[in-house]
Amino acid sequence: MKKIISVFLAGIALVSLCACSGSGSKKLVMATNAAFPPYEMVEGNKIIGIDAEIAQLIADDIGRELVIEDMAFDSVIAAVQTGKADIAMAGLTITEDRKQNIDFSDPYTEAAQVIVVKTGSEVASPDDLEGKIIGVQIGTTGDIYAADIANATIERYSKYFEAINALEQGKIDAVIVDREPAKVFADVNEDLSIIDEEFTVEEYAIGVGKENKELLDQINASLKKLKDSGKVDEIINKYIKAE
Ligand code: ARG
Repeated sequence: MKKIISVFLAGIALVSLCACSGSGSKKLVMATNAAFPPYEMVEGNKIIGIDAEIAQLIADDIGRELVIEDMAFDSVIAAVQTGKADIAMAGLTITEDRKQNIDFSDPYTEAAQVIVVKTGSEVASPDDLEGKIIGVQIGTTGDIYAADIANATIERYSKYFEAINALEQGKIDAVIVDREPAKVFADVNEDLSIIDEEFTVEEYAIGVGKENKELLDQINASLKKLKDSGKVDEIINKYIKAE
């Protein structure tokens, strides 16, 4: 009888082990908003970009299968908070407010918010935004900073493309958006310019659920290897051409 019980208990231990520790094919679900070139964008039926490629290398390194979930940007943090996703990688800026809800990995690149206007606009510096109509993507740092601009009207879009379209059509005066996506948008639309003076300087990192310290440590260890070996720079340079 004793023997039967211990075999039974061993069975339970085995089952619970399988449920909580990763086998080689355990998924690593990444929440993103794939309308943010060159960090994440859709090509054919695939999501490509700097974040997608770095995430793939991390997943390979920690022995997990990367699955990318495309969603609204303002759902990305909630997705990792609720465990719907394991990581958030979306050109996600580290902020003190967001740190209340999720943990951030070490940063993998620096970034900035810039102002995009129609070429020849009277808006020539961040100070000129006072009283203007400003487009942002909902839930982004641009959205947060725009709220502090005196007398400005904020138009909040679910995608930056929509804000850029509104700017082209003259419906709004400026768009606050991250520097590298701004360059992509301004390259495609000849009548748009980026104001030289940066609005803010930021850093991007990978968001992880607060109860997921083990994953956070694994990601930081991976990221360190990828940075030290030059892999992160290689990916960034592939998508961002030096001026
Ligand atoms: N860096 C900004 C932020 O964290 C904007 C990120 C937008 N990312 C995206 N994939 N749409 O708020």
